[in-house]
Amino acid sequence: MAGELLSWESEKTRGERSVASGVWPPAGCRWRRSGVPHGSARMLEAPVRSNVRVRRDKQSKGGHAMAKPSILVTRRLPEKVQARIARDYAAEFNDDDHIFTSDELLRRCAGKDAVLPCHSEHFTAEVIDQLPDSVKIIANFSVGVDHVDLEAATRRGIVVTNTPDVLSDATAEIALLLTLGAARRASEGERLVRSGGWKDWSPSFMVGTQVTGKTVGIVGMGRVGQVAAQRFRGFDMQVRYHNRSRLDPAKEQGAVYHPDLDDLLGHCDVVSLHCPATADSRGMVNADRLARMKDGAILVNTARGALIDDDALLEALTSGKFAAAGLDVFNGEPGGDPRYRELENVFLLPHIGSATVDTRNAMGDRALDNLDSFFGGREPGDRVA
Ligand code: DGY
Repeated sequence: MAGELLSWESEKTRGERSVASGVWPPAGCRWRRSGVPHGSARMLEAPVRSNVRVRRDKQSKGGHAMAKPSILVTRRLPEKVQARIARDYAAEFNDDDHIFTSDELLRRCAGKDAVLPCHSEHFTAEVIDQLPDSVKIIANFSVGVDHVDLEAATRRGIVVTNTPDVLSDATAEIALLLTLGAARRASEGERLVRSGGWKDWSPSFMVGTQVTGKTVGIVGMGRVGQVAAQRFRGFDMQVRYHNRSRLDPAKEQGAVYHPDLDDLLGHCDVVSLHCPATADSRGMVNADRLARMKDGAILVNTARGALIDDDALLEALTSGKFAAAGLDVFNGEPGGDPRYRELENVFLLPHIGSATVDTRNAMGDRALDNLDSFFGGREPGDRVA
């Protein structure tokens, strides 16, 4: 009804229809005064801050002002996702896609209701403590949340969400690519062909490791780990796993559970890491654990570089202990430890586990679904703090 004071959500629903029909803003609409829905903070059990200041995207239509929740989008997202954001929020985008320093991040957060960051922005306790009071939610475009100090966010009553499920298939594909690439010396072979250095074929030329029928150890049997296990089974591999808790038999599908990680390692020809980087898991792949692995084993990491002690892995790769490693994630991204680049027996990718069109669109939709829930007064589906 013209002139009616509508909630953000009912406006948004009307907006979706209006965008679909090419008319935005919808006639007679007026956004509620605050971008943060009444009661949402209480419902989410976060401390309520009074005096929330919202930078409004004011538009006038039929004499009625409207304001959308304001949001900082820290990196360039897929076009479809940015269009949805621009439609539903008063958004500040990062058109040249540069990485914000903490200072710039904080400066750009001024007056925002929400931030939509990627893992490239570091929300340390220090940064979170300096966020303006207006910021109520950090809706990550990532499943990993190791770049956000969750305790600090909880202390400040800031809700944090992630994007699980939608990148499991894409990341599992990369785990398999890394395994095959490392085992069959793919980058070495590719470099040889490209450089014109391929001079001959012989029975001893470019001999690698066959993975079919071998044993894979999945460390972290969550969503990605389970999909990866399924793909490894496609190579007739026996699956063993370590996880905080044992899966039910329907999910286990015959995989052998090892409550003790140290016990798992010695059984595996390939070890694939799929657990989050937490205070407990950082540096878990250390010299002691690598020594427990089979001679000629292959280590694959699509999770986080922080899980690995680089000095120890480099030693295992150069001493002949390991056949190879496949790494998509690194300590010190972008770039990673430059010593890996010198080794032929490492298959390296630049953190592209989730880099497919389907997945990146789905990640954006998932992050926005979380924001829509929050500003619509509902519990975001993927709340992690
Ligand atoms: C994730 O979502 O955590 C991926 O590593 C990309 O950030």
